[in-house]
Amino acid sequence: MGLSFNNSAIDDLKSQINIVDVVGRVVALKRAGANYKGVCPFHNEKTPSFVVSEQKQIFTCFGCGASGDVIEFVKRYYNLDFGEAVEKLSEEYGISVQKNRFGKDREKYYEINKEAARFFYRAFTEQKNPGYTYMKQRGMEDAILKKFGIGYADEKWDSLYTFLKSRGYEEKVLLELGLISESKGKYYDKFRNRVIFPIINTSGKVIGFGGRAVGDAMPKYLNSPENRVFQKKNNLYALNLTRQDIGKEGFAILVEGYMDAIALYQGGVRNVIASLGTALTENQSKLIRRYTKNVVLSYDADSAGRNAAMRGIEILTREGCKVRVLHVTDGKDPDEFIKKNGRDAFLRLVDGAMPYIDYRLDAVRREHNLDTEEGKIDFVRDAAGVLKELSPVEADVYIRKLARELRIAEGAIKMEIIGNTTDAPVSAVQRSVRREKEAVRDALSPLEANILKTLFINPSLSERLLDFDQVISSTLGQKVKDILFELYGLNGDFHLSQILDRLEPEESEALTAALDNIAVCGNEEQVFDQCINTWQIQRLLEREQALIDRLALADEENNPESIRQLTEQLMEVQQEINSHGGRK
Ligand code: GTP
Ligand code: MN
Repeated sequence: MGLSFNNSAIDDLKSQINIVDVVGRVVALKRAGANYKGVCPFHNEKTPSFVVSEQKQIFTCFGCGASGDVIEFVKRYYNLDFGEAVEKLSEEYGISVQKNRFGKDREKYYEINKEAARFFYRAFTEQKNPGYTYMKQRGMEDAILKKFGIGYADEKWDSLYTFLKSRGYEEKVLLELGLISESKGKYYDKFRNRVIFPIINTSGKVIGFGGRAVGDAMPKYLNSPENRVFQKKNNLYALNLTRQDIGKEGFAILVEGYMDAIALYQGGVRNVIASLGTALTENQSKLIRRYTKNVVLSYDADSAGRNAAMRGIEILTREGCKVRVLHVTDGKDPDEFIKKNGRDAFLRLVDGAMPYIDYRLDAVRREHNLDTEEGKIDFVRDAAGVLKELSPVEADVYIRKLARELRIAEGAIKMEIIGNTTDAPVSAVQRSVRREKEAVRDALSPLEANILKTLFINPSLSERLLDFDQVISSTLGQKVKDILFELYGLNGDFHLSQILDRLEPEESEALTAALDNIAVCGNEEQVFDQCINTWQIQRLLEREQALIDRLALADEENNPESIRQLTEQLMEVQQEINSHGGRK
């Protein structure tokens, strides 16, 4: 909006303001020769490379390349557009800046929005109305409704229009602000029978509205359209009220819905903000970064919420934020959760929120079956993709964790991260996973031999084996199994001699030896079932051990939410072990 002001007026303003003073209010500056130096507010750094020149009235960062004059600084630091930055400076320093037509327009837009907000507020507070009843039903207190300026748009067609018209505002502007719409030469209120959430920027201006249907009308929310004073991508709901709390608490909780923000605030969790019904944008994360670099994403646990969390992580980490993610466990969103369980319970969720790397690894983990060799290998490959983006120190911590979880060599994961430069078809992870299994792969385990023996006594048990065919996992066992399945499929029967014929001499020797060692006593069906049961118990015990290992890690990290979830899983596994009669 450079057009809003005369150039000479801008020059005048700049000549009366010292950039050192403006920057110095928010960045600790130290004199360095003719200049001033500080830690750059626009990127993450520890040693100062941000320089302010008093003489030239500019700032430059040698770390990230940011530079510009005092207006540029205010724009970037406070996330304002040009016009807003000029206004801010002119207000703070008491210097009037002559505006041309466009600049005045902006003021008028804010003013109309403010009038509308007040109109909605009166409708909400001065008489009985469905909006107020609805918000009370949802457990909202008067003080909070007032604090957020919640209003009501009544069900008539032209209440707001008539009111604003009587104040002398033109239709054209009301249309642009999205307060009214036009059809066949007549004008109608855009918001009807809706609870109104005014959206207020950090300069205290009403920039737009969210209107929630009272009850089940569609669409559930109607939001102001984008216009010259309302850009969703540049603003966050509730930030005007909560930025001090965010500063005080040292982190921000980002939720999806207006109602979530208000409910948390009412519940005593005040360092909260909500996006404006769209995916988080780069500018919004810059805006957050002004107040804190620590963000807890609290999105729904459904797949949309998980995707939103992933995108949020990406955008926020790019701005240098430290992100953690929580999904409410009881109730569908933070609003329901805090109303049901209270502040302390929500704060416990916050304490247990997953660091974003764990969150991303978890999402990748979910896509693979870690019980299989292929699953493990694919998981490590994808996990390496995540770890690649970390600093070496961070990566190291996670490599160690993964190695322990998967019981594979740390070096293998490192190799995967660095990327195999040779064209070796077998990756380091594959080798490592395989090495671990090699010992068991070749020889028949006693369990396999037992099962095969029952099959040779009673070939029809092959049909039952189909459901548990991972029981047979050695190379030899699998080969035998494939042959006998084939024969059984063709003939409904098979004999040991037919199989021995088709094996290599050393294989048939190994098979005979293994089978000779086994005496099937009693009913072969019972023996078969016992074998399957034993195998299932073994697998459960392995899962139990893996969970115990992960619990130990969660314990070390003092992560109560992980501990809770893992303990739950552990209890389930242990119950299953008992139901299989394991560990008597
Ligand atoms: P309640 O259902 O009243 O609890 O709303 P909520 O605040 O929990 O909202 P929800 O989680 O359903 O949606 C999150 C945000 O997405 C809302 O606050 C809106 O900004 C936006 N949103 C939801 N539904 C709609 C819709 O129908 N249209 C538009 N434009 N935005 C929507
Ligand atoms: Mn909700």
